[in-house]
Amino acid sequence: MSTEAEPIWIEVDRYFEDHLVEHDPALTTALAASAEAGLPPIQVSPTQGKLLHLLARAVRARRILEIGTLGGYSAIWLGRALPVGGRLITLEVDPMHARVARTNLAAAGLEDVVEVRLGPALETLPRLAEEGGPAFDLVFIDADKPSAPEYFLWAVRLARPGGLILVDNVVRGGAVAVSSSDPRVEGIRRLTESLHGGRLASATTVQTVGVKGYDGFLLAVTPG
Ligand code: SAH
Ligand code: DHB
Ligand code: MG
Repeated sequence: MSTEAEPIWIEVDRYFEDHLVEHDPALTTALAASAEAGLPPIQVSPTQGKLLHLLARAVRARRILEIGTLGGYSAIWLGRALPVGGRLITLEVDPMHARVARTNLAAAGLEDVVEVRLGPALETLPRLAEEGGPAFDLVFIDADKPSAPEYFLWAVRLARPGGLILVDNVVRGGAVAVSSSDPRVEGIRRLTESLHGGRLASATTVQTVGVKGYDGFLLAVTPG
């Protein structure tokens, strides 16, 4: 779990949010509806959502895969980055989360762009591979952390050569630096160690502080 956010981190995050993050009523509505439905408030922050959006635009992503939908907050940010004809597939295990997300995505006008697939990602990912659809330009991994190394392998398989893979919550208040009995921390450490040498993908991390406390993203580009 992230350390508690310091007041100054929150203040700085809000300052940048006020100036740099455009107001999108669909995002505000999605947050309210998610809270109303009792979903945990663990979605990416506004400045992080904007980061995901800009990265998707920077790589001109046309096909995006997300693992871990929650109420669809990050999916709206990513869906808004897609050009006409683009597609986002997002995987969610919890039927209630999926239902809330579908409603939020429809309210954002993204019902024809974003598809929420219900089921454990380790079951829906092999099905996606079997379907043999076009490769993904960007994959955002943000579901259960113990399975992060397995999700990453599927992401490499499903991404295009030179595809961008992002993983949320890789720092966890600094816990990642120390071996731990927490399977979430161990999942991220296994993932990190699987990337040693850069053959699977070339990766780095960005540590973050802000309204969500102290955490970070892993960014990786697949070979080719
Ligand atoms: N990306 C979201 C937050 C995701 S929170 C956002 O930033 O807005 C993590 C989500 O992963 C939760 O909704 C949880 O139900 C889902 N999840 C957990 N285990 C999963 C699994 N095995 N397969 C698919 N989704 C899973
Ligand atoms: C948790 C999960 C997340 O994806 C996140 O961004 C923050 C917290 C959690 O499971 O505690
Ligand atoms: Mg997360």
